[in-house]
Amino acid sequence: MNMLELIEKKRDGGVLDTKEIEFFVDGVTHKTIPDYQISSFLMAVLWRGMNDRETADLTMAMAHSGKICDLSDIPGVKVDKHSTGGVGDKVTPILLPVVSSFGIPCVKLSGRGLGFTGGTIDKFESISGFSTTVKPEEFKARIEKCGMLLGGQTEDLAPCDKYLYALRDVTGTVPSIPLISSSIMSKKIAGGADAIVLDITCGSGAFMKDLKSAEELANSMIAIGKLAGRPVTCVLSSMVQPLGAMVGNILEMQEVVATLQGQGRPDVIKVVTTMACEMIKRTPQGRGKSDEEIIGECKKKIESGEAFSRFGDLILSQGGILDASGCPIYVDEPFEVMTVYADRDGYVSRCDALEIGEASCLLGAGRMEKDDVIDMGAGIRLSKKVGDKVSRGDALFTLYTGSKARVSDERVDEALMKMDGAFEIADEPVETPKEILGVIS
Ligand code: URA
Repeated sequence: MNMLELIEKKRDGGVLDTKEIEFFVDGVTHKTIPDYQISSFLMAVLWRGMNDRETADLTMAMAHSGKICDLSDIPGVKVDKHSTGGVGDKVTPILLPVVSSFGIPCVKLSGRGLGFTGGTIDKFESISGFSTTVKPEEFKARIEKCGMLLGGQTEDLAPCDKYLYALRDVTGTVPSIPLISSSIMSKKIAGGADAIVLDITCGSGAFMKDLKSAEELANSMIAIGKLAGRPVTCVLSSMVQPLGAMVGNILEMQEVVATLQGQGRPDVIKVVTTMACEMIKRTPQGRGKSDEEIIGECKKKIESGEAFSRFGDLILSQGGILDASGCPIYVDEPFEVMTVYADRDGYVSRCDALEIGEASCLLGAGRMEKDDVIDMGAGIRLSKKVGDKVSRGDALFTLYTGSKARVSDERVDEALMKMDGAFEIADEPVETPKEILGVIS
């Protein structure tokens, strides 16, 4: 078997057998296939697709490219969640402490930013001292100690996905249903969760641009879950505009803290509580309760400060530093570059997630190349979103860079141009977009 034959077979629309897929995964994992051939193969998959059997084979081979965690001797149903990525998606750092405060063990394996979307690992690493390197053999002890853990991929856990993920990010090969579903599901299977709840984002700021492809992706992951014996629930959420008000690593963590202190925006609360409800329903803690009851309890966990206190426990348990009020200390400070104001009265009719995600990357909040170092302080604060009434002179948005690694004026100008294209103001009132588009399980 050789890699060129596999590339040509997929390029010409062929169906790969299990052995061929295992050959590819083995070659990526052991670094015997050069990046240019891996990239070319990924592009062929993006164009030609994979059937369910090929996708399941790719998932299982990637899951087995490292260790598989056995969490069976930790009491309780271990639920994991994952998002297909979005702009301003700060759900995980809020959701984990909320779900954990019900006494549910949470093992969360997250990724870094991909394309124009932010990554949970990058966001947590904006906290001084926080380590996302957790070895699979430490999972059990961590869960017993803190009740939750937030880990990145180590060399031990789905290492093939780790390598492919970074390469896809810089080769235009992210938005492919088999590549996304195998990437996510391989990590979930390797992480050892009993049940999986997925947030499938849909809209300009997501990889799935419309509801039909989001449903297709959901069905692909549910099919893999069936094969692997793990129940999968998919929440379809809107990503036509960023979630919440902040985009960028430190900025988003600041919004996380504000949300856990009871000052969350309704869109953030809606997505977090819907995801939490789907996770809790899978466990004894949710049995016999209606969705409304569970959502009400989640809100109480936030209002009472219990979830904020669990957030602090998570930060401390992974080496992060908190100040006297229990808030994280960050590696940098966002530095305000400029605020842009509305030039007319009206209603915001467009606040485009993709353009805002790209503008945020240009400011330094995301990677343009595989080895780029992220500027943790960079990003954007949105003062108005779709449906909001604006008067001439109201602030629309503010651009930030970090105080340590400031980008060039050219990059700021480019980001500003993107932001100009992202916003539209209409004369007539505009409805606020629905956050949740459906749930499939
Ligand atoms: N998240 C992942 O882990 N992988 C993808 O391919 C996309 C989002």
